[in-house]
Amino acid sequence: MCGIFGCICEAAVPVLVDGLRRLEYRGYDSVGFAFISEGRIIVMKDKGSIDDFVRRVDLDSLDSRIEVGIGHTRWATHGAPCKENAHPHLDCTGSIAIVHNGVLENFLELRAGLQARGHAFSSNTDSEVIAHLVEEGVRSGIGLKGALASASSQTRGSMAVAALSSAEPDRIVCFRRESPLILGIGPKGVYCASDIPALVKYATRFFLMPEGSLATLTRGGFTLESASGEQIDPCAVGVDWDLAAVDRGGYAHFMLKEIHEQPLAVSNTLRISAEYVARAASLLLGKRILLTGSGTSYHACLCASYLLNSLGFDARAIISSEFEEHLKGQPLGEAVVVGVSQSGETADTLGAIRHAKRLGARVLGITNTLSSSITSLSDAYLCTQGGPEIGVAATKSFLTQLVALEMLSFRAALASGSLSRADYEGVVSEMASLPAKISSILGRLDRLREIALKYADRRDAYFLGRGMNVATAMEGALKLKEISYIHAEGYPAGESKHGPISLVEPGFLCVFVAPKDSSRQRIIGNVMEMKARGAEIFSVLTEGDGELVEVSDEHFEVPESPEYLYPVLCTVPLQALAYYVATYRGLDPDRPRNLAKSVTVL
Ligand code: F6R
Repeated sequence: MCGIFGCICEAAVPVLVDGLRRLEYRGYDSVGFAFISEGRIIVMKDKGSIDDFVRRVDLDSLDSRIEVGIGHTRWATHGAPCKENAHPHLDCTGSIAIVHNGVLENFLELRAGLQARGHAFSSNTDSEVIAHLVEEGVRSGIGLKGALASASSQTRGSMAVAALSSAEPDRIVCFRRESPLILGIGPKGVYCASDIPALVKYATRFFLMPEGSLATLTRGGFTLESASGEQIDPCAVGVDWDLAAVDRGGYAHFMLKEIHEQPLAVSNTLRISAEYVARAASLLLGKRILLTGSGTSYHACLCASYLLNSLGFDARAIISSEFEEHLKGQPLGEAVVVGVSQSGETADTLGAIRHAKRLGARVLGITNTLSSSITSLSDAYLCTQGGPEIGVAATKSFLTQLVALEMLSFRAALASGSLSRADYEGVVSEMASLPAKISSILGRLDRLREIALKYADRRDAYFLGRGMNVATAMEGALKLKEISYIHAEGYPAGESKHGPISLVEPGFLCVFVAPKDSSRQRIIGNVMEMKARGAEIFSVLTEGDGELVEVSDEHFEVPESPEYLYPVLCTVPLQALAYYVATYRGLDPDRPRNLAKSVTVL
């Protein structure tokens, strides 16, 4: 939620704009910049996206000698998305500017205290209290760094902050607690950002700010220290993403690019070292397995829970935001929690993991971001190899999560003895066929474009599946609803007759995920029930399934495969369907309203 970028380099203004643009997936309700120019702070901010802002505001009129600046792209938590609530926030004197990513739990109390001491507020945000607390520290003579350390000790909650003071015009001071902040050094400058994609173009070395640390960035580099003032040695992280990986690379949208990157993302994930997978799998043995994630990542958990149960484990998928309530009163000493998250920063998933750890559970993290909070909390982790995912709707991260979870499940089954070595080898070779099968689906996306055109004006849709493909259906519905704003529900197909079917009338769209697996015969019954009520049937089915083609109005074929590969294969056409429907409706699939890529609030 929210992106921060800061830089100290020549011609800082275009660098800030570019860096922030690469963080817009974290939120795009409003945008703002603060620069130091001739010893003064200039703030420019407004509602809306960076592109709107740049069109309205004459950034070229700014002094090209500006070298120090910070910027922010916002996903509103406290206070409506409007100019006043946009960051940066200033103190009462206009000589301190801060940008903040996170949520302060005690801001009401802090704000009341600050107001009683004469501070005037110009926004409804929680973040503005930081500017005023820093102002008090600076006024007491402890300098910007001391003042930010003092402000951080008075606040509770998540807080990644970059701050400027006109009294110390050569530097940016940063603090980080719970929300991520990464520092970068390159040939032309020093940078800080909420995420690595914003830094890739400028930095050659990357450093994670440790929890609770302060960094002072100057032209010569940065120093890092704990809140109590002890020097900390920076910990470099290896980043092998090139610029092409974080740019659109000729595609109209990141989402489409990322859909097309799936064969590569899956084959990279299949290359995760067997030793890592075996180590992670050993954590599952003899344990009750609780898989947890949010949104799309929860769907990956749900799918894996079916597979793990079929392999003889005791597995349950629980939505992260419900984890604590769901397991209230249960001891978790015998459990292993598998926390699944693309970003590794989702507050609900972090909350579930922290709760489980407090109760004695071991934690296995599956994230796409090695340097994330979830990996650092985990006893073991697997890093999916999806590469940067910028589009707000999860695509390649879902496929790589499914693949990583399957690798893990089968490896655990081999170790537990429920799967023979020969069967395991068979699974490994089937999984190796996935990238080519996904490519063959991508080669036929034109067909989905036609189907999408037909359905683009629908108001509602059901997505129905059975077994592991309940998760596929739920994922298809989530994709459609979040980027096209069509009301879509994913359901177990057998459950539809217990209520949902009452909405079905002639022309109602029902998307069936119905490959040739063990539930295929039963799902045909569900198709017939819907058809009998006049529903329009679009089936994702196995190639050559003439019987299902016959009863479907539209269909899309996926290659014949073992049952456990179908969720991966059947998801791809559903992603593309959602993408094309959104674009036909004139919507930007990379920026669905009210959403952000990384949801770091509870
Ligand atoms: C949907 C989507 C979200 C995320 C969810 C969890 O397309 O992207 O539902 O899956 O916010 O995010 P991560 O995986 O980063 O924990």
